[in-house]
Amino acid sequence: MSLYTLKSEVKRSVNKAISLRKTIGLVPTMGSLHQGHLSLIKKGINSCDVVWVTIFVNPTQFNNKNDLNNYPKNIGNDLEMISKISKNINVFYPEISEMYDSNVRMEVFDFQNLDKELEGKYRNNHFNGVGTIVSKLFELFNPNKAFFGEKDFQQTRIINKLIEIKNYKTEIIICPTVREKNGLALSSRNSLLSSKSKEKASIIYKTLVYSKENFIKIKFEKIYNNCKNKINSIPGFELEYLEIVDNESLKKENKIDINKSYRLFICVLVDSVRLIDNILVK
Ligand code: PAJ
Repeated sequence: MSLYTLKSEVKRSVNKAISLRKTIGLVPTMGSLHQGHLSLIKKGINSCDVVWVTIFVNPTQFNNKNDLNNYPKNIGNDLEMISKISKNINVFYPEISEMYDSNVRMEVFDFQNLDKELEGKYRNNHFNGVGTIVSKLFELFNPNKAFFGEKDFQQTRIINKLIEIKNYKTEIIICPTVREKNGLALSSRNSLLSSKSKEKASIIYKTLVYSKENFIKIKFEKIYNNCKNKINSIPGFELEYLEIVDNESLKKENKIDINKSYRLFICVLVDSVRLIDNILVK
């Protein structure tokens, strides 16, 4: 594993790879890695000549200072996990000043309202922050492929839009959500929970499965109320949203069209930690 902290050194290595016609895979992360991240890295290794993993807690995508300050960091463990996968992975671990110079500002994009749905309603400007850092990374690495998790499905839609807006040539590979045995989606934020809360948080995935199974049989309003009551009755748990939306536009629809695809999205605050998940309904 090779560790880089400077853009100039990354650029040199990337230019060399391009001149040798090697395909470049990019796996952007905020670190505190788990098996979900590692599944993306492994996909990268299987389909690209060179794989870059970036570890950077991007300040512009956090609308809440506490959330940013509390975001888990574990660089020693991250590097160990990566080096166990393969010795041939490059890691970019920059300082904030290296990514933003002295100007920690986000770019504002026209994501055609994709950024206003779901997470966007609760995290003002979050997706402008994500777009800002991902465009900086795409311009630095010029990747043939970039690997993202289905766990953050709205984010994958935003990245697709970003590629369209900026005319990047990168192909997005969406990788399935990796879960605990009890169904809880792996997330760096899970490390902020007690083991008891983590066990109880399996209700998030169970809610998605229950809603999916009953979506044709029961009115969604009733499903929503059942789930909300159940989740909110657990001490420390609060349902932020449970929505069924069009899989393409991510918009809520009043009438369900059997020819369309729908996806269920959920966000639950568990001891004030925001946990999100989603599932394709049909
Ligand atoms: P982070 O939350 O660290 O996630 C990095 C990548 O790992 C994302 O593409 C995310 O969807 C994926 N991922 C997270 N949990 C997963 C799981 N359980 N199974 C499969 N994939 C999973 O997402 C970000 O960072 C940032 O917004 C970033 C894109 C790096 C921009 O700052």
